[in-house]
Amino acid sequence: MQSDFSRTLVTAALPYANGPIHLGHLAGAYLPADIYVRYLRLKGEDVVFICGSDEHGVAVTITAEKEGTTPQEIVDRYHFMNKESFEKFGVSFDNYSRTTLPVHHQTGQEFFLELYRQKILVEKSEKQLYCENDRMFLADRYVEGTCPVCGNPEARGDQCEKCGTWLEQTQLIDPKCKICGATPVVRETKHWYFPLGRFQKELEKYVDSKKWKENVSGYIDSWLKEGLEDRAITRDLHWGIPVPLQGYENKVIYVWFEAVLGYISSTKELSQKRGEPDLWKKYWQDGQTRYIAFIGKDNIVFHTLIFPAILMAWNMGGKSNYILPDTVPANEFLNFEGKKFSKSRGWGIDLKDFIEVFPADTLRYSLALSLPESRDSDFYWKDFQARVNNELADTLGNFVNRTLQFVQRYYDGKIPARTKVGKLDEWAIEQMKKAPGSVGNLFGDFRFRDGVVEAMSLARAANKYFNDSEPWRTRKDDPEQCATTINICAQLTRSLAILLSPVLPNASEDIWKMLKLDGTAAGAGWDNAAEMKVESGKETGDLKILFTKIEDSTIEEQIRKTASGEPAVGPAPLPEAAPIKPEISIDDFRKVDLRVAKIVACEKVQKSEKLLKLEVQIGKEKRQIVAGISKHYKPEDLVGKNIIVVANLAPAKLMGLESNGMLLAASTEDGKLTVLTTATDIDSGSTVR
Ligand code: MF3
Ligand code: ZN
Repeated sequence: MQSDFSRTLVTAALPYANGPIHLGHLAGAYLPADIYVRYLRLKGEDVVFICGSDEHGVAVTITAEKEGTTPQEIVDRYHFMNKESFEKFGVSFDNYSRTTLPVHHQTGQEFFLELYRQKILVEKSEKQLYCENDRMFLADRYVEGTCPVCGNPEARGDQCEKCGTWLEQTQLIDPKCKICGATPVVRETKHWYFPLGRFQKELEKYVDSKKWKENVSGYIDSWLKEGLEDRAITRDLHWGIPVPLQGYENKVIYVWFEAVLGYISSTKELSQKRGEPDLWKKYWQDGQTRYIAFIGKDNIVFHTLIFPAILMAWNMGGKSNYILPDTVPANEFLNFEGKKFSKSRGWGIDLKDFIEVFPADTLRYSLALSLPESRDSDFYWKDFQARVNNELADTLGNFVNRTLQFVQRYYDGKIPARTKVGKLDEWAIEQMKKAPGSVGNLFGDFRFRDGVVEAMSLARAANKYFNDSEPWRTRKDDPEQCATTINICAQLTRSLAILLSPVLPNASEDIWKMLKLDGTAAGAGWDNAAEMKVESGKETGDLKILFTKIEDSTIEEQIRKTASGEPAVGPAPLPEAAPIKPEISIDDFRKVDLRVAKIVACEKVQKSEKLLKLEVQIGKEKRQIVAGISKHYKPEDLVGKNIIVVANLAPAKLMGLESNGMLLAASTEDGKLTVLTTATDIDSGSTVR
């Protein structure tokens, strides 16, 4: 990555606060942006990550009308919902703002007035579509028709979302009013226009001076070739930023003109929150800052041509100088089970529903491998399951688990010494040394799919190293070699936590804790992933299962819900289980004599809150067992039950009472308890295996 800049501004498209965000949005802009930002932070760069809700526009007023409520209520609902979804999926914005805030209204009006003052804006009386039934001009999404460019029959009045073309509504073929379905008539009305055509030359120069992804430059070139035209930037609406001019009291600024400025106002808000009111200028008006704008393909024209032109226009005034996007790494679309996401047809799955069933990292990983970086891609439940089970659980999880289990079992939980580094070990170290460079280059190049594959290939190499080193064998034959292997595996584990932290922020910190390392994986420093910093003799922490496999039945349930259009909220998320203890042999297990016992009598132990005294029958033998279950069972409820006891446990005394054996009960961290009983009746004294 080049480094002739000293800080980076990263923005991600402001999602409309008009519905819940879904997987497609995450894959389009937010996940790649977040991986990128997390990577830059690990590199120790000065970076700020900006987003917020796009709360104006006709999309919102249409929803409000449908629901018989106010636009404000709609945007309040979805702003908070989406903000929470982003948080749950670990999208680490430095600020998530709203375009209805005063700071944004001021910014929008300031830009409008500055361009007006410079006489860049042009007032024109032009033909617009008017619905005689609804008695209004049909701005933007209030009208739908066929796109003159690609033939999409559902193009909106301002934009065809299929081919990304920015339209004037009078260009639509066979337009229809979205409210009543009637064919609108053409009427004259006055609007302010932004003379995009005037900026054609300068935009061409700008575009030529930057590097774009191939899919992005394809779009830009075709628009530039076609020639840019003036565009109306005011609308006959009430919801939006009022046009700050006399005679325009009933008009607002066009949502796309002001939404892009939301990046600036969100950065201003961040500055206020940090108590450094001028901080935003460092990110927006300093040539040492590099600006990267993450978006989906339907937003390309607005970020590569229109927003830069607005900023160029401002800069012409000489008041201050905004930087332009250095690049716009737009993604194509993600489809869901072979079809386009569609809110109206109920096709797809929202983030808020997804997180109820599956942990964030599983989706981040799976989506990262399907990012539509150069063409449309697909999310399939079956792929998702396979990636979680085969890659996260079997490759990464398994490697970390077998390494740390080895440490716990054979080295008393302490990292063994690395004293005998042979060929195979050198190979493993070599893999680790080169990984930060190769993964980092891909991330820096906006190739997140390949970067994640590359990072995961270190986990594959690590597993192979473990297998080929056969520590279970060398433990007896060549202890020094075994210790070396396990030491290097611990180094690899740490390295993986760092390299995967941009895509698996939660799992990475879990690994960090298991290794009992200082600080966080996210703060460890990227290049540090090449170093062997886990010290010999160092204690490790408790083991935790990183990823549980997804059962076929769970995925089939999701597929069924997808097909039936039911919301995808499934069973409650699986609880965190306590760590599994080190492995034992079958012989260890056979030492424990488990028997069915029938409770013949039961009473509370006096002066004890916890203890019950049970009399149980094990075959012909009667025994007394004292158990701490008084808070969970009344004595009379237990009499007659078949329970399971450890019959050969050494006797113990509890509050002066002899206990001959122990009953089995299941309990959770938060104190729920249930005594194990037999599912059907069976003779007492039966053995349990
Ligand atoms: N709300 C728009 C969308 O979701 C994106 C706006 S990007 C911004 O398609 F730059 F205008 F904010
Ligand atoms: Zn089109």
